[in-house]
Amino acid sequence: MALRKIMTTEEPCLYKISRPVTKFDRRLHKLLDDMADTLDDANGAGLAAPQVGILRRVFIVDLDETGPIEFINPEILETSGEQDDMEGCLSVPGKWGMVKRPNYVRARAQDRYGEWFEIEGEELTARCILHEYDHLDGHLYTEKVYRWISEEELQAMYEKEDEEA
Ligand code: CO
Repeated sequence: MALRKIMTTEEPCLYKISRPVTKFDRRLHKLLDDMADTLDDANGAGLAAPQVGILRRVFIVDLDETGPIEFINPEILETSGEQDDMEGCLSVPGKWGMVKRPNYVRARAQDRYGEWFEIEGEELTARCILHEYDHLDGHLYTEKVYRWISEEELQAMYEKEDEEA
């Protein structure tokens, strides 16, 4: 298990455009394995390579309903509908904001061996794929927030979670 440092908003790498992956080699596999460990450790839903300082078009999404999925050189093929929900990012710790996104996405990507696959998702899966994809073009969800969640609202949510636990 190897954890990588998650970059936060003051790091320039988060605002740069990542380059395509050309070699599906052991180095890529090590990056993917480390990213999975890092995401797991941080208890997040998705992580993009630029968030660990690697400017390559790679991200992983790990939602309960899907299990971990690796996206290399992803392309968004289609989006539709709209959803409106709270969003956060491991690179923007402690903050949450309301973001509107398409409710459906169809994408294609290569796996760690270079094989293309197609995937579609709705709701949280779509949100997560689109959020991670934005990282590859140097965009953070903070650009899309139309309302930030206040400290009081967060506190109330944490208390509700504690009650339910
Ligand atoms: Co993020």
